[in-house]
Amino acid sequence: MTNTLTLRRPDDWHLHLRDGAVLTAVLPETARDFARAIIMPNLVPPVITGDQAAAYRDRILAALPQGMSFEPLMTLYLTEDTDPDDVAAAAASGLVTAVKLYPAGATTNSNSGVRDFDNVRAVLERMAEIGLPLCVHGEVTDPEIDIFDREAVFIDRVLDPIRRATPGLRVVMEHVTTSDAVDYVKAGNDDLAATITTHHLVINRNHILVGGIKPHYYCLPVAKRETHRLALRDAATSGHPRFFLGTDSAPHVDPLKENSCGCAGCFTATNTMSVLAEVFEQDGALDKLEGFTSLNGPAFYRLPVNEASITLTKGEPVTYPEKIACDDGPITVFDPGYPLHWAVQRD
Ligand code: NCD
Ligand code: ZN
Repeated sequence: MTNTLTLRRPDDWHLHLRDGAVLTAVLPETARDFARAIIMPNLVPPVITGDQAAAYRDRILAALPQGMSFEPLMTLYLTEDTDPDDVAAAAASGLVTAVKLYPAGATTNSNSGVRDFDNVRAVLERMAEIGLPLCVHGEVTDPEIDIFDREAVFIDRVLDPIRRATPGLRVVMEHVTTSDAVDYVKAGNDDLAATITTHHLVINRNHILVGGIKPHYYCLPVAKRETHRLALRDAATSGHPRFFLGTDSAPHVDPLKENSCGCAGCFTATNTMSVLAEVFEQDGALDKLEGFTSLNGPAFYRLPVNEASITLTKGEPVTYPEKIACDDGPITVFDPGYPLHWAVQRD
């Protein structure tokens, strides 16, 4: 039986760090285990320009505790007014690693996102030319479309037409939640990849709704039925090179989650590596964990893999805080609903 597991140090290809007190509270939770992360730009106001991304990067690095190392990979929030030259300059200088597309109104702080996709065509064409990846929140916002169908409809109505109209555009379908998205990514070429979150490998929609509403399991895209969760498990644990970890760890303080109109987002930074080791072991795929957390992402983003490593050991159930403290209020850590046995060695 395997009792220790050494992996190249993982990266998180989709992370919300926020700003101010929340940034200070959550950054160490990620930097403890992860070397790099793609930082989501959905602040208020959003990170739209290269200058804003540089300033946000400085705030992140200033919040990093002494002795910890972590590289934030910055993204720009795509709006209908985004200037292709500003994007190209930010990419050329190495400041940004990707651009993020939010359909307007799809999720937390997405109101400045895109309404008419024709208005961002010039930016997408420039990104295709320079090979800069587009990270896509793949849900339509049409009120007629059921929330559980919004990802699948987005593929047909928006994503596939954009990809056909923009050959060479490199796309990451973020936080996929359906077998439709898994199939679409598998059928695509090397310009198409997907991130999968920690929590979508663990919960389905019953976890949110059966036996009382569980606000800490509510995120967007919302978890779907069990068949979809199993398709995600299969994609993640199969070793397919175009699926990799993007935790979408999305902290909101408890009063904003436990609310009559609660915010979307699961906070998984604290225990993600323990949860993933448990999940991959359950599926007899511990040998595929390193690909998912540490190799497939850098390959898609054309970045070097990390030289450092982390070791997980298996033993008694792991203890982790139920909440982390923050000056704005407590932030609840994702509860997978079962004990975790793999602990990251920290010395
Ligand atoms: C994210 C957030 O809170 O910023 N929430 C979420 O449920 N995942 C936004 C997002 O990634 O959709
Ligand atoms: Zn997100």
